[in-house]
Amino acid sequence: MTTRISKAVIPAAGLGTRFLPATKAMPKEMLPVVDKPAIQYVVEEAVAAGLHDVLMITGRNKNALENHFDRMFELEALLEQKGDRNKLAKVNESTDLADMHYVRQGDPRGLGHAVLRARMHVGDEPFAVLLGDDIIDERDVLLERMLEEQEKRGASIVALLEVDPSQISMYGAAEIETTDDPDVVRITGLVEKPAVADAPSNLAIIGRYVLRPEVFDILERTPPGKGNEIQLTDALQEMAVDVEGTGGVFGVIFRGRRYDTGDRLDYIKAIIQLAADRKDLGAELRPWLHDFVSTLDAELPAGGLLD
Ligand code: UTP
Repeated sequence: MTTRISKAVIPAAGLGTRFLPATKAMPKEMLPVVDKPAIQYVVEEAVAAGLHDVLMITGRNKNALENHFDRMFELEALLEQKGDRNKLAKVNESTDLADMHYVRQGDPRGLGHAVLRARMHVGDEPFAVLLGDDIIDERDVLLERMLEEQEKRGASIVALLEVDPSQISMYGAAEIETTDDPDVVRITGLVEKPAVADAPSNLAIIGRYVLRPEVFDILERTPPGKGNEIQLTDALQEMAVDVEGTGGVFGVIFRGRRYDTGDRLDYIKAIIQLAADRKDLGAELRPWLHDFVSTLDAELPAGGLLD
């Protein structure tokens, strides 16, 4: 049985505590990356892969997220009056992007708990999960590839990134067997945020998944794990082992550009890299960056570093 996958689930209900105070009253997924909120890149990616039905899992402060994908009549009317077609187009970009749905998570009890909130909407079919703070560069292919592998293998698929071994404890780590395809591995085990010494590999799970609906039953009975949160990784570990009951789990190794906008340093890097490549900003930003970088080897700035 192969149904074309049409639904994307985007969890965006985390507290974003690494970004306080910016995220005190605003979801981190709304932080601008150049001039677009991170979440818009993610919805655009889902749509580009053919997933037009988008369910967003929201938490407190959900209004900004919903408003961003809704009409904004006053602003539209004002820009219309001014005849500013360019800005009007920017306002409307996100409005008709996808068929948007929202469900609230209530307490943010972990990514697994957030995904479980999608059960009613998704029903009994495979679906994609895209983390709302994780951006994949649109010039690099990932989700389409994962959808193809899901269809071909009938398994659940995770995206993997090779990271420096010292960084693996920030991610879920995969124990793998190779396949005939150098970009695809079979997952034999998964551990959430392992100590560096205990990590089964330096292949880290990143924020894209294509899951079979069996994950919901497993999540229903998954107890809180690392950080006292219900971990999607723990449910996937069970699926990796129970190949007969769930189809198993495969990983697609991503070798392209990915930006974790929930992390301050990665967020800053994302803005610089994307702006430097933009038609409208790159030509001015690149020489400025060059000059700026050449000043960095000099002494500390006047007045010292900022807190
Ligand atoms: P993170 O662990 O990066 O989000 O979750 P967080 O908990 O908001 O981060 P910090 O550490 O406090 O800064 C990855 C994704 O899962 C969502 C987040 O919104 C993010 O997109 N998430 C996480 C939920 O939707 N619900 C949760 O309970 C936890």
